[in-house]
Amino acid sequence: MIDPAPARLVVLVSGSGSNLQALLDAAADPAYGAKVVAVGADRDGIAGLDRAAAAGVPTFVDSVKAYESRDDWDAALTEHVAAHEPDLVISAGFLKLVGKRFLTAFGDRYINTHNALLPAFPGMHGPRDALAYGVKLAGATLFFVDAGVDTGPIIAQVSVPVLDGDTEETLTERIKEAERAQLVDHVGRLVREGWTITDRKVTIP
Ligand code: GRF
Repeated sequence: MIDPAPARLVVLVSGSGSNLQALLDAAADPAYGAKVVAVGADRDGIAGLDRAAAAGVPTFVDSVKAYESRDDWDAALTEHVAAHEPDLVISAGFLKLVGKRFLTAFGDRYINTHNALLPAFPGMHGPRDALAYGVKLAGATLFFVDAGVDTGPIIAQVSVPVLDGDTEETLTERIKEAERAQLVDHVGRLVREGWTITDRKVTIP
């Protein structure tokens, strides 16, 4: 039997891109079933773009400031992502909320990884907020993006302990290690096996 073509992943980044790197590394194995066909960013000069270039993956940058309005930016981002015909779009540390047009085009296949156990600690500072609250378990959540902030249907969650003496940096790193493994594992499963969403419940058969 001829292997099916690998699923096409477009990954959006804003920073160091360690989650992107984990996907690039996993996709080097044909058995993974997916390849990163493009990496988009909302800013220049970030390590995530360097990682893509080093892997020979095309990149594009859509900075909000480069457009007259947020709607124009959303339209451009939508167009640039669509040009790569993605089966799955992955926000991996992408620090922008997309707009209506993007969600209309990709809302059924746009996922995000967040560094907290949602619905606790949404937003930009998951590990810091978790630490300040004094929780004993922190972690990461992979979910389908909807119009809210970190509110979409949950695909998977992984927890890590909060240790005495943790700082925001040490906790963030512990979460990120578990987060990368979860992302790679579940992206592979989603593209190989498909999924259903019923009443917010995501099932991978
Ligand atoms: C991840 O922990 C993600 O949850 C958060 O930003 C981090 C991105 O890290 N929103 P990286 O750029 O993939 O290294």
